[in-house]
Amino acid sequence: MAAFSSSKAIVVGLALFVLFMGSSRAQLSIDFYSESCPWLFPTVESVVQSAISKEARMGASLLRLFFHDCFVNGCDGSILLDDTPSFTGEKRAAPNFNSVRGFDVVDKIKSAVENICPSVVSCADILAITARDSVYILGGPVWDVKLGRRDARTASQAAANNSIPPPTSNLNALISSFNAVGLSTKDMVALSGSHTIGQARCTNFRARIYNETNIDTSFVQMRKRNCPSATGSGDNNLAPLDLQTPTTFDNNYYKNLVSRRGLLHSDQQLFNGGSTDSIVTTYNNNPSTFNSDFVTGMIKMGDIKPLTGSNGEIRKNCRRVN
Ligand code: HEM
Ligand SMILES: *[C@@H]1O[C@H](CO)[C@@H](O)[C@H](O)[C@H]1NC(C)=O
Ligand SMILES: *[C@@H]1O[C@H](CO)[C@@H](O)[C@H](O)[C@H]1NC(C)=O
Repeated sequence: MAAFSSSKAIVVGLALFVLFMGSSRAQLSIDFYSESCPWLFPTVESVVQSAISKEARMGASLLRLFFHDCFVNGCDGSILLDDTPSFTGEKRAAPNFNSVRGFDVVDKIKSAVENICPSVVSCADILAITARDSVYILGGPVWDVKLGRRDARTASQAAANNSIPPPTSNLNALISSFNAVGLSTKDMVALSGSHTIGQARCTNFRARIYNETNIDTSFVQMRKRNCPSATGSGDNNLAPLDLQTPTTFDNNYYKNLVSRRGLLHSDQQLFNGGSTDSIVTTYNNNPSTFNSDFVTGMIKMGDIKPLTGSNGEIRKNCRRVN
């Protein structure tokens, strides 16, 4: 009897040990590359800085890449894989095609990083660092970015179509699409503050400016000038998501929402008489609360289903599997 329970204790102990090792391996950490690639951060930042100096919008595009990577089966660099005749990646998925950009900048960063520490740093981690640097360079908050993700050897166009919420979403759909990846309603409202930078295409806001009533009339007039009502005409014409300071990361996005100048249907859903109005009001009145909730949300988003340990690989070229 005594022998039985002590061997049982050993089995339980072993199981706990394996669980513990498993979960500790799955942890990302801020010092993951501190020995294997000590110059990683300045190397990434200088490429991001020069890309943004050339075109301020690029900071927005790089931030969005990280979102579209993380929401589709986790932050695993899958969005960076090119299609080939025998492989369909995520670049032509509905939310990405003709829309996501910044792949050339990611290539530049990756080759600068490969030059100093070959086959060490994943493309998934490069996206996380790049998103952080972009926000900071455009005037937003800065945070310690957790690292240790590895790169997927596959991608899923179907998951990209289904997991990234479309701009036609109503509030409940936005809440559930974020909940589906472990992010709260507050995370959703704070992360949507990313729309304080960057641009959207007419096709994504046409229905809002021509058909919706919860929208400021002079804002409508201004946006209609460069976005014709007929489907197919001017679809790719751009307008800033934040009409005030589209290349500065601040809380003007929430000021726009309070004055019914959200550009996308999904933007104005956050302040339309529903449960998130009070969060928008808080961020409108209090930029430092927005900044800290945004950082919390970015870190949580970066934790979505990373590949760690011996899963995945460290790609040499972000566009293809090794
Ligand atoms: C809440 C749900 C969200 C929806 C429905 C949404 C939708 C969109 C759409 C439709 C565009 C314009 C794309 C185009 O017209 O080509 C856009 C742009 C953008 N989104 Fe979101 N988004 C959401 C959340 C987020 C999040 C969480 C982030 C980042 C953490 C983000 C970052 C951006 C940025 C920075 C841009 C501008 C990109 C550029 O100028 O290249 N979005 N989003
Ligand atoms: C994803 O959406 C695109 C564009 O709407 C469509 O062409 C493609 O067939 C979809 N892919 C899958 C796997 O559903
Ligand atoms: C506005 O709504 C009407 C009626 O539902 C529809 O026929 C029209 O195509 C919509 N216009 C736009 C630009 O979405």
